[in-house]
Amino acid sequence: MSEIEVLKNSQYYIDLENQHGAHNYHPLPVVLEKGEGVYVWDVEGKKYYDFLSAYSAVNQGHSHPKILAALIAQAQTLALTSRAFYNNVLGPYEKYVTEYFGFDKVLPMNTGAEAVETAIKLCRKWAYEKNGIEENEATIVVCKGNFHGRTTTIISFSDDDNARDNFGPYTGGFVSIPYNDIKALEEVAKDKNVIGFLVEPIQGEAGVYTPDEDFIAKAQEICHANNMLFIADEVQTGIARTGSLLAVCGNCSCENQCERQLTYTKPDILILGKALSGGAYPVSAVLADEHIMEVIKPGQHGSTFGGNPIAAKVAVAALDVVAEENLIQNARRLGNLFRQEMNRIIEKTDLVVKVRGKGLLNAIIINDTPESETAWNLCVKLKENGLLAKPTHGNIIRLAPPLVITEEQILECVAIIEKTIMEFKK
Ligand SMILES: Cc1ncc(COP(=O)(O)O)c(C=O)c1O
Repeated sequence: MSEIEVLKNSQYYIDLENQHGAHNYHPLPVVLEKGEGVYVWDVEGKKYYDFLSAYSAVNQGHSHPKILAALIAQAQTLALTSRAFYNNVLGPYEKYVTEYFGFDKVLPMNTGAEAVETAIKLCRKWAYEKNGIEENEATIVVCKGNFHGRTTTIISFSDDDNARDNFGPYTGGFVSIPYNDIKALEEVAKDKNVIGFLVEPIQGEAGVYTPDEDFIAKAQEICHANNMLFIADEVQTGIARTGSLLAVCGNCSCENQCERQLTYTKPDILILGKALSGGAYPVSAVLADEHIMEVIKPGQHGSTFGGNPIAAKVAVAALDVVAEENLIQNARRLGNLFRQEMNRIIEKTDLVVKVRGKGLLNAIIINDTPESETAWNLCVKLKENGLLAKPTHGNIIRLAPPLVITEEQILECVAIIEKTIMEFKK
């Protein structure tokens, strides 16, 4: 049969991926070909609400016209120079992004994992050069249940067997404490070689674990009392997702990105990715003040694509959209409404035991074991009813729509979820 005669339905594309791609993912059986705002369409033309947002990369919605225009215009002008030369786009982006988040300096990278690696290297170098730590002794504290990406160093301090097994030998220099455990942090901080605390303000991948309200502020206090850097990985939680610009802003009452910079728990190193580009392009960044960032000198760290002109323009547009469209306030308001509605549904069913989260980063906990297929099967039913979500760690379903969603749309989604749960049979 020739190419043209092949019926190019979903199964065709699923088979192609299965045959020719590495099996490092287990996607829901849906093949998407188009996205706009909160919606995506499959190759059969069926329309869905996207309730994953590419793991919170698409906060600004699919194919946002302003972000796309920036991407296209820059791609047609100058796409890549490498950092061997200056270009007329990177500097303006660096000024913009550092002012936006209130830091002196930015180090641009591409993916979240690269930015985490950058933060680790920066923290270590700072410890050796500014903090008198002896060579190879620096230790960074991480949390159990963490997810910071997939590189060899990062999986070395993961406790997810699936992410870690048979990828050794592992990188040393990390100590792991339970999440949300201030006493444990205090204890390990007594060791003078402990020079940083790398933490997700909400553990997204692990299943949207929200720590105590004061955890972040107290953790930062301990870091500063012990000459450690407080490193916030906001790759998933940052950029309006949790109802504040950054999840470390916690319940800060400011409504936009202005006074926030004076009041929030400012990390010593901030790691951003995903929604920094509105999902249009891989853009990540590490932000820090000069007294930390200055330890990195020419030739000591970098990336061919990091801070390329397209990335720079796209990131500015993506951050503009967050402010112009009030995505922080929208995520906060509709997040509250969503959890309220989920709690109403939970009252009526034994299938879901809990909803948790902040802003529009939420998860429901299914009343079954993590090994069971129940959450997966529920996601398949949600898909059939027009809403795409995916389980994380077995019996937890993350629910994270683009932040441009409206009240009317979120109530329609609640109705889909309610119907699916009420009709679901194990
Ligand atoms: C908190 C956190 N850090 C880092 C990463 C890694 O980002 P990337 O997949 O872009 O490497 C992720 C991805 O989900 C994440 O959630």
